[in-house]
Amino acid sequence: MAAASAPPKMTVPEFVKAKSRGRKLAVLTAYDFLTAGLLDEAGADALLVGDTLGMVVQGRETTLPVTLDEMIYHGEIVARAARRALVIVDLPFMSYQVSPQQALRSAGRVLKETGAACVKLEGGVTQARTIEALAAADLPVMAHVGMRPQSIRRLGKMSSIQRNAEQLLADARAAESAGAFAIVLELIPRALAADITAAVSIPTIGIGAGPDCDGQVLVTPDMLGLTQGFSPRYLKRYADLGAVIREAAGRYVAEVRDGRFPDAAHSHD
Ligand code: KIV
Repeated sequence: MAAASAPPKMTVPEFVKAKSRGRKLAVLTAYDFLTAGLLDEAGADALLVGDTLGMVVQGRETTLPVTLDEMIYHGEIVARAARRALVIVDLPFMSYQVSPQQALRSAGRVLKETGAACVKLEGGVTQARTIEALAAADLPVMAHVGMRPQSIRRLGKMSSIQRNAEQLLADARAAESAGAFAIVLELIPRALAADITAAVSIPTIGIGAGPDCDGQVLVTPDMLGLTQGFSPRYLKRYADLGAVIREAAGRYVAEVRDGRFPDAAHSHD
């Protein structure tokens, strides 16, 4: 009997074509091998190794301290786990802002050392020259406009909805013209995100940007209920794994303390 054929690997061109086919793209963040494998099996179109790892993996307050070496470490792990999903690795703060040359070196390292297909950087108009340089060197790049967590020191807080329509449209258009293959839209009113999505030919991937984007992305530990004290309106929790883990670990601790674990069934004769 012929083996069931594995679903084809998602590529950058296939990801881009999804927009004209009207097929919504489901993206999730991933940072480790086991979770990335599960998300891949669940059918995620892309796994974003986001610099949110600074917060949800390293327990930091912002994404700013994350280094390029750390992104490469996690990117390689996720790329090894992903059999089908497109793997996108964030360029962390100050690994591309200095110059297009610096961005080329950083993105080149990511693609060579992780096996990921592409990188993401924050910015539109201000990063157009850099996006152009990456695209010209065949380093596929996703842009990220709207709320940009790497700008936290200028913005003052991470949760502000971005409402400057003129600026956001200009950012999205600049990213597209420079050669970005897709754009993340973060924390943008839904009508404006719909206008941007209609104005560009590349897919828009929304987070807190309403249903009219070409796809959606959520931070996986948030949507699985592993993070605490973070509940923006856009976040839908699909599971409460925090409660599941606390309950299971609590039972284990109790059973070890009162001698119920290991029992005969879990002991060798
Ligand atoms: O770093 C990240 O996880 C991201 C998503 C929030 C889009 O940029």
